[in-house]
Amino acid sequence: MSDRYQGFTQSPLGKLLVKNLGLPAPMQLDRYVDGAPLVDGTVLVGGCGRLAESLPGLLDTLGIASTQTFAEDARFKGLVFDATGLTSAAELEALRAFFAPVMRKLTSCPRVVVLGTPPELVEGSERVAQRALEGFTRSLGKEIGHGGTVQVVYVAEGAEAAATSTLGFLLSPKSAYVSGQVVRIGAHGTTEVPAVTDWTKPLTGKVALVTGASRGIGEQIARVLHRDGATVVGVDVPQAASELQALMAELEGDWLTLDITGKDAPQRIAHHLKEKHGGVDVVVHNAGITRDKKLANMDESRWASVIAVNLTAPELITRELLDQGVVNEGGSIVGVASIAGIAGNVGQTNYAASKAGVIGFVDSLADELEDGITINAVAPGFIITAMTAAVPFATREVGQRLNAMSQGGLPVDVAETIAWFANPASSAVNGNVVRVCGQMMLGA
Ligand SMILES: NC(=O)c1ccc[n+]([C@@H]2O[C@H](COP(=O)([O-])OP(=O)(O)OC[C@H]3O[C@@H](n4cnc5c(N)ncnc54)[C@H](O)[C@@H]3O)[C@@H](O)[C@H]2O)c1
Repeated sequence: MSDRYQGFTQSPLGKLLVKNLGLPAPMQLDRYVDGAPLVDGTVLVGGCGRLAESLPGLLDTLGIASTQTFAEDARFKGLVFDATGLTSAAELEALRAFFAPVMRKLTSCPRVVVLGTPPELVEGSERVAQRALEGFTRSLGKEIGHGGTVQVVYVAEGAEAAATSTLGFLLSPKSAYVSGQVVRIGAHGTTEVPAVTDWTKPLTGKVALVTGASRGIGEQIARVLHRDGATVVGVDVPQAASELQALMAELEGDWLTLDITGKDAPQRIAHHLKEKHGGVDVVVHNAGITRDKKLANMDESRWASVIAVNLTAPELITRELLDQGVVNEGGSIVGVASIAGIAGNVGQTNYAASKAGVIGFVDSLADELEDGITINAVAPGFIITAMTAAVPFATREVGQRLNAMSQGGLPVDVAETIAWFANPASSAVNGNVVRVCGQMMLGA
């Protein structure tokens, strides 16, 4: 399941062909190593809005070194620009003035974050200026290169202190394959965050349910949530029992083998979590299947099985957990959507409908949830797993290269994004759908 093309481009012949034929040259992305500093370098902070003053202190909490001074010989690992003060189109010049001189002063895999105000919460020319940030960051994401990422984070007024976990994620190698994204903080009302004593183990004492945990993306989600301190309860089908049990034994977690589409699955999961763990803090609906066929050849069973596993089961399980009061205060529910649910894909009307439905599920619950419970979704692009290994070679190659990083992502990239949602300090991160797609050229 390795990326052989990427390996080839790093050989002498590969380097020559990349240079002379202008082929995509995927670079080795930085990924987070447990125990390493969150950011290996200095972050330059600029702009003048609601957040500018508190930013250095906020980054300091995370152990991230920052400066507000641009020295000619300095190199930066990250750039954070507070654009919340921009209230008109003319003022957008401040973006160019800050970024243009520093774009050649970045180290490898740099991180760029532009902070704004949710456009829907302001009026007139301020709304125009704030909405413009999306186009700016998405374009910069496509031109930054060197494994760099660029995002806009819209922070509602009053939620300034709730941005710490998001900045920690987006400035670190944990967000290696997340770029061109728009994140909203505090847009659904919550602006308060609980204090985190240990940022390396924010899930200490928490219980996390992960469906489809025996392999692929689910396995990495279980590993990363365990790394962050959670007790993981893995769920998978009975056929995957031995892999699931081995993994959960390694992670000192717990397991439950069942088909999530089973009639009594929601009740069994709720009962298990309540009786054995006293509730659950993090719910990750990762289990998913594909049964591809063009619509003209789509039989009822292909249609029904995909909708049942990917959409109906997460809905019913979530409803049961909420109705039974099994989700603890401040809990986090995470759906796993897909780029197919945003851009569509040939042969995947069933799958894309199910994954777009997951996004609808997030939208519908985000305003409804109580007790500080949040719901968000990840939408992975091309992630190298057993699921994508089954894709025919030519389609797979196109799928892997058609993004700003010219490569597929790894399961850990999806897992890290979920761990950011699950962090108790992300309590104001609600109702977001974040693509983990290396800024794929397809879809919005
Ligand atoms: N791999 C990608 O590129 C990609 C892209 C977008 C979205 N996704 C989504 O990410 C999730 C994980 O994908 P993956 O690539 O790791 O897939 P995978 O096939 O490797 O793993 C899926 C897991 O879900 C389990 N599962 C399937 N049906 C189940 C059921 N009825 N009850 C309980 N468990 C069940 C499987 O046994 C397996 O362990 C899926 O929801 C998938 O749609 C993957």
